[in-house]
Amino acid sequence: MTHKIIIDTDPGIDDAMAIAYAVAHPDIDLLALTTIFGNVRTHEATRNALALLNHWDVLADVAEGESAPIAIPANEPGYLVHGRNGFGGVDIPVSGGTRHDLGAVDYIIEATRRHPGEIVLCAVGPLTNLARALERDPEIVSRVKAVVVMGGAVHRKGNVTPVAEANFWNDPHAADAVLGADWPLVLAPLDCTMPVLFTPDYMEAVARENPRLGRPLADMAEAYSRFYRAHQGLGGCVPHDVMAISWLTVPGAFRLQKGALAVVTDGPAIGQCLFQPGGTKSRATVFDGRPDHLVMTDTDPALFLADFMTVMARHTT
Ligand code: BDR
Ligand code: CA
Repeated sequence: MTHKIIIDTDPGIDDAMAIAYAVAHPDIDLLALTTIFGNVRTHEATRNALALLNHWDVLADVAEGESAPIAIPANEPGYLVHGRNGFGGVDIPVSGGTRHDLGAVDYIIEATRRHPGEIVLCAVGPLTNLARALERDPEIVSRVKAVVVMGGAVHRKGNVTPVAEANFWNDPHAADAVLGADWPLVLAPLDCTMPVLFTPDYMEAVARENPRLGRPLADMAEAYSRFYRAHQGLGGCVPHDVMAISWLTVPGAFRLQKGALAVVTDGPAIGQCLFQPGGTKSRATVFDGRPDHLVMTDTDPALFLADFMTVMARHTT
């Protein structure tokens, strides 16, 4: 089965890994990258999206997204993690390609009108574009095939505050709106991303198997891993955003739980993801009227890593 996808992204090193995997996978038809602030500012994300597609010779649209969160002032971009250029200092020049005439929000709305029931939105940055699309055209919930979101920490601690994960923290109101909407949504939180590590040896092997896609990723991973070593004592880097794509192609690698989700929008716990398991009740009113969604709560690292390597190795053009 071919998956027609749009990746909503803030490239970003693990974003680049997710994009490369989508490009390499024979069952994925990448329609577009829609951009958002987060790891870098939105115009830098657009530049990086164009640069990657250009560098890898991929024909897909790039539509520029919102430049600010819904209701909070923008946080400082994640330069500390992803480097000042978003790629850990690895230079990927833009040598062609222009952004789409439509902005990301209208692009997403139009694409789901053109292909009703066919498009999977894979969101791997702050959810502002998706929240604005919901606001502008609430009917979009019945036109998407699925929404897969990398964000939040459900049974784990956060990565930017003790309780908040970066994508949700960067626009908590957007995250809360997207998780509260009644569309077929799967959440890939830190619970499923943190058990997986791309070690330097693994990335070198990816680069050997597929130099064109893999060499820049391995170079970027060096800088990304320095951050993980310094801040978390890990011997590699975590490919968070890849999980939102792998869910489509290797769902057996993930453990799932069903339940209602919400996001804290103010106070010291801002950005925290709240989860109420399906079939249970609590006295929290925040889940009232919210649909249950699927949450990826754990990953089989061996299965995930073997699949990523195989997909990269088999890709030739
Ligand atoms: C998420 O935040 C960004 O730094 C990564 O690209 C990923 O989308 C992980 O918390
Ligand atoms: Ca990202």
